[in-house]
Amino acid sequence: MNIILLGPPGAGKGTQAKLLEEQHGMIQLSTGDMLRAAVKRGEPLGLEAKKIMDAGGLVPDHLMIKMIEDRIRKPDCAKGFILDGFPRTVPQAEALDKMLSACGKKLDAVIELKVDEAALIERVSGRFTCAKCGTGYHKKFKPPKHAGVCDVCGSTEFICRPDDNPETMKTRLKAFQDQTAPILPYYRQKGLLKSVDGMASMDAVHGSIEHILGETGKA
Ligand code: AP5
Repeated sequence: MNIILLGPPGAGKGTQAKLLEEQHGMIQLSTGDMLRAAVKRGEPLGLEAKKIMDAGGLVPDHLMIKMIEDRIRKPDCAKGFILDGFPRTVPQAEALDKMLSACGKKLDAVIELKVDEAALIERVSGRFTCAKCGTGYHKKFKPPKHAGVCDVCGSTEFICRPDDNPETMKTRLKAFQDQTAPILPYYRQKGLLKSVDGMASMDAVHGSIEHILGETGKA
């Protein structure tokens, strides 16, 4: 199955994509993670994207489309993929349709995570990641089992994203409203859009997504 997880910054797209990967062997395609990896490797794309990401804006469409087009053709996507962070504009959504039909694939569902603004701010301001293995945590909602120690690799080093601050968050939320929310009617019209209450607990949100996938699989 090929799906899109859609929602504002901090809605839980990455969290849910990881749970679906574990459960179904689908591949998470997070454009934010791909860009951060390009920044870390010092690639030209990473250098161009870093300033934009740190300011909370959107990286130009042609760069993002090329990135996903190259990735979606790789053999590991054959089992199904979860797009997390793409598309983010109507031109990206249109380009996705074209690239999928060119390689004989289709979208099965677009799942919108609905979360109110105060909760989004609380979620991004409490988020941190293991510096060694990248496991994600939250101060209040998902702390490590032993304070200061990564559950997965035992590292004691953690990092916060430079764009997870209140000022940048305002710009990211505005980018979502102005540039990303217009793709909701695009997918509604195609009969693909399903909405989930993203304010619920991580497990409850996962249950709602599984329910949608179950119904989609039967259709
Ligand atoms: P990206 O990395 O995609 O960031 P984002 O969309 O802002 O989303 P986040 O990663 O912040 O949040 P999330 O929804 O994954 O939430 P998470 O699961 O971590 O993009 C970063 C930047 O890259 C963009 O701003 C842009 O510049 C650029 N970019 C990327 N793609 C692009 C594109 N296509 N076009 C142009 N530019 C692009 O959860 C957040 C926290 O909440 C975690 O700590 C988690 O533990 C906790 N949490 C999750 N679910 C729950 C729950 N149900 N209850 C309580 N806590 C929860």
